Amino acid sequence: MILPEPNPPDVKIELESEGVNQWRIFQDQFFSSTPLSDSPLKTVFDPIRRSTVDSMMVVGQLGQTMDGRIATVTGQSRYINGHSGLVHLHQLRALVDAVVVGVGTVLADDPQLNVRLIEGKHPARVVIDPKGRLDPKARIWSDDGVKRLWIVSNGLNLEPPKGVKIIQLPMVDGHMEPAMILQSLSSEGLNRVLIEGGAETISRFLQANCLDRLHIIVAPIVMGSGRASFNLKAIEHMDQASRLKVKTHLLDSDVLFDCDLSSARIRIN
Ligand SMILES: NC(=O)c1ccc[n+]([C@@H]2O[C@H](COP(=O)([O-])OP(=O)(O)OC[C@H]3O[C@@H](n4cnc5c(N)ncnc54)[C@H](OP(=O)(O)O)[C@@H]3O)[C@@H](O)[C@H]2O)c1
Repeated sequence: MILPEPNPPDVKIELESEGVNQWRIFQDQFFSSTPLSDSPLKTVFDPIRRSTVDSMMVVGQLGQTMDGRIATVTGQSRYINGHSGLVHLHQLRALVDAVVVGVGTVLADDPQLNVRLIEGKHPARVVIDPKGRLDPKARIWSDDGVKRLWIVSNGLNLEPPKGVKIIQLPMVDGHMEPAMILQSLSSEGLNRVLIEGGAETISRFLQANCLDRLHIIVAPIVMGSGRASFNLKAIEHMDQASRLKVKTHLLDSDVLFDCDLSSARIRIN
């Protein structure tokens, strides 16, 4: 079998037209109280501007292959998405108050979780790490002026890196309630939140009905093996599977599935 090149050629997304920085104008409007002007950016991001449930807006995001993989068997995920898919992720980061990841992602990728591909403010960085497995030298803790939160289980005695705040939460059956995690973020003033992975973390928020939206960015890649996007309870019949309400957007060679989960989202605050 002859396969095409491993990665499709990237096409740069047009954020500037006729010398005007459309992204900057959009961001200014997004954070104001005025309605957004009609534009492709409005079509994609207006749904994450205001929650329909309470004062929180929780968005999950995963970049995956066409066969539902977010990383290789060794945990390598850089980069599944093309340039436009990555720009979309950085746009999401610029529009939220905080980015949350599970400790598995930080151990695998040592990510920075800041905004680099476009203009925008860096969000607060939050890691869910009940056992305190994270290296205090991880790049996520770099002091660049943003809030950094280390969520660990109650009673864990840790020396946090300078400027990093520890939040202790109770564990029930080896699990922290996603709603409780979100409440603790809200009490820190972080109300628009991006859950950026990995599979285990997103799955827990999804199962707990704690996501308003889920952005799945599908790249034209078939991996054939690797880590699945979700880790959910096994089902036997198709009628037990969730069929989601989605809007699709083309991001050059990637496709964004914007899933609306707000009708199932529980109240957080
Ligand atoms: N393609 C993408 O968009 C994307 C995005 C992010 C990550 N990734 C890839 O995904 C892989 C990592 O994903 P993963 O599923 O293995 O790990 P993960 O979701 O990043 O982290 C899972 C771990 O975080 C802790 N955790 C998360 N939520 C918790 C909760 N509600 N209560 C208690 N503990 C909680 C647990 O830590 P303990 O195990 O210590 O209990 C859990 O095992 C990496 O290979 C990374 O490259 C891909």
